[in-house]
Amino acid sequence: MSELHIVGLAGNITAPSKTRALVGQALGLAGDALHARTTLFDIADFGEDLGRARRAGDLAPGAQRNLETLLRADALIVATPVYKGSYPGLFKHLIDLIDPAALIRKPVLIAATGGGEKHALAVEHQLRPLFAFFEARLLSTAVHVSDRDFSEGRLGDGPALDRLARAIEEFTTIFPGAARIRAAAE
Ligand SMILES: Cc1cc2nc3c(=O)[nH]c(=O)nc-3n(C[C@H](O)[C@H](O)[C@H](O)COP(=O)(O)O)c2cc1C
Repeated sequence: MSELHIVGLAGNITAPSKTRALVGQALGLAGDALHARTTLFDIADFGEDLGRARRAGDLAPGAQRNLETLLRADALIVATPVYKGSYPGLFKHLIDLIDPAALIRKPVLIAATGGGEKHALAVEHQLRPLFAFFEARLLSTAVHVSDRDFSEGRLGDGPALDRLARAIEEFTTIFPGAARIRAAAE
């Protein structure tokens, strides 16, 4: 079987970004568990003109290539910061450029970072329905982390990291062949 490619999308619009750090950490775990190639994009990778694009073809050539790479991935890890109880508008604008049929049955891990716990269910009430629209294969474990779960720019040991590891484990049930190859290499 050919190498899996897992693409991460961080819906942050600022840098540095805890959301980007979370997606990077999740890709590291998933890449290791599945012996997969990984690529990480954030909103800046879709160009300064993203907000003006009415369709994917309006994006700059590099941004179009990034979107194509994302859509061709075997699986996605998508995280956004929580803004006013939901995802940022520019992230939604990028998602609005995606063909409704482009993510059917694509395995997707959804995650969010928030300032605190108050809007932890944004991941269930906002991100899950968004990807359900696309008929994506959403992992049942979604991950919300807050500022205090980070230590030196990474998720430290604790319930948030445990939950992320549980979500990644779900990928191994979707791609058992890749997980077996990984296990055999140990
Ligand atoms: C405009 C704005 C709105 C925000 N709204 C919320 C919110 O409703 N709930 C919450 O928990 N955190 C909220 N936050 C905090 C961010 O979600 C949190 O700091 C997040 O980790 C930032 O991610 P980033 O470092 O990737 O930008 C908000 C931050 C900004 C800038």
